[in-house]
Amino acid sequence: MLTIPVALSDNPYDVIVGHGARHLLAQTISELHNPPKKVAIITEVNLVDAGWLGGLDSGCEQVVFTIEGGEGGKSLATVEMLCRKLVTAGFSRNDLVVGVGGGIVTDVAGFVAAIYHRGIRYLSIATSLLAQVDAAVGGKTAVNLAEGKNLVGAFWQPSAVLCDTEVLSSLPPREWACGRGEIAKYALLRGEGGRELLDLDLHDQVASCVADKALVVVGDERESGQRALLNYGHTLAHALEALDLERGETTLDLKHGEAVAIGLMFAATLAFDLGRIDDSRVHEHRIILGELDLDGRLPEGLSATELVDLMGRDKKADHDLTFILDGAQGIEVVKNLDVHAVRSSLENMGAKP
Ligand SMILES: NC(=O)c1ccc[n+]([C@@H]2O[C@H](COP(=O)([O-])OP(=O)(O)OC[C@H]3O[C@@H](n4cnc5c(N)ncnc54)[C@H](O)[C@@H]3O)[C@@H](O)[C@H]2O)c1
Repeated sequence: MLTIPVALSDNPYDVIVGHGARHLLAQTISELHNPPKKVAIITEVNLVDAGWLGGLDSGCEQVVFTIEGGEGGKSLATVEMLCRKLVTAGFSRNDLVVGVGGGIVTDVAGFVAAIYHRGIRYLSIATSLLAQVDAAVGGKTAVNLAEGKNLVGAFWQPSAVLCDTEVLSSLPPREWACGRGEIAKYALLRGEGGRELLDLDLHDQVASCVADKALVVVGDERESGQRALLNYGHTLAHALEALDLERGETTLDLKHGEAVAIGLMFAATLAFDLGRIDDSRVHEHRIILGELDLDGRLPEGLSATELVDLMGRDKKADHDLTFILDGAQGIEVVKNLDVHAVRSSLENMGAKP
């Protein structure tokens, strides 16, 4: 097992990465200050079907709550349903929520923990590659609104995160690709030498991404500065995901990591069009995405105007268009981008006006 400390001054915790890490649950809970009497395990039907809940022992009285999967299940309605069930099942302020699943479950379970009784403790067992390298670490929790992704949420740090690489054996191929979308982001954020991340074995790759994220989160827990860089590629990614949410359709049917891969390629295209980076760095983006077997092309038939409109609603924006872009000083937050420039780069990637 590899242990990566997230050394926050107020809420330090460990992320444990390893084969069978979920079996450390009871021990991890028993080591908490004032351990809980009851544990609410929030999970999703796919995890139950794959058999990963069998034999999962919290060492406490435990109740399992299963939520609907997918972005549609990451909603205020799910949160209300769970909170009401926690009340009915008699959960107190000293009890614990454990999210067992991918980023959808860890985001929902974390948000429930953040608001139930004004905040109870939370621990996650991350079961998708994306949740292990990114979503479960760092304390951002959220649900979607019909108007967009992650628009309601809270910063709420877990007491521990267990990244069990054994459970990845049942992860569908598309979900592996999804996790690789975030790994591409870490590789690109590293700048020179980023490709070394791609050569590591799975455990070290997960642990390295967690360590990269922990470093940023410790420096800026509430995203008032550097933490925004972890959103590299996400401005367009969230807009692409919002298209389906807003239309109530699955026309694009892009998963988060797939949208991030497109967003990374767009960030490179925009930075190039603005003269911030040269062609070799754009090529580096293409190579990294290619090595991770990811497709950075914009789906056909999208409207640049509609995408720009959606990107203006991004949480990083302050009534303007804000992007995380590469440049001479490395990757940084760039505010007040010219709408025409963004639209023109989208068109360069094949969008309609
Ligand atoms: N909070 C954050 O900092 C943060 C960061 C990145 C992404 N996110 C969020 O994470 C979400 C995406 O997470 P995700 O990609 O893990 O999606 P997900 O939670 O939907 O999981 C992907 C799919 O894989 C299945 N699955 C998960 N683990 C499995 C396993 N071991 N075996 C078989 N099936 C398994 C799930 O049931 C689901 O169908 C998005 O909503 C995104 O906004 C949050």
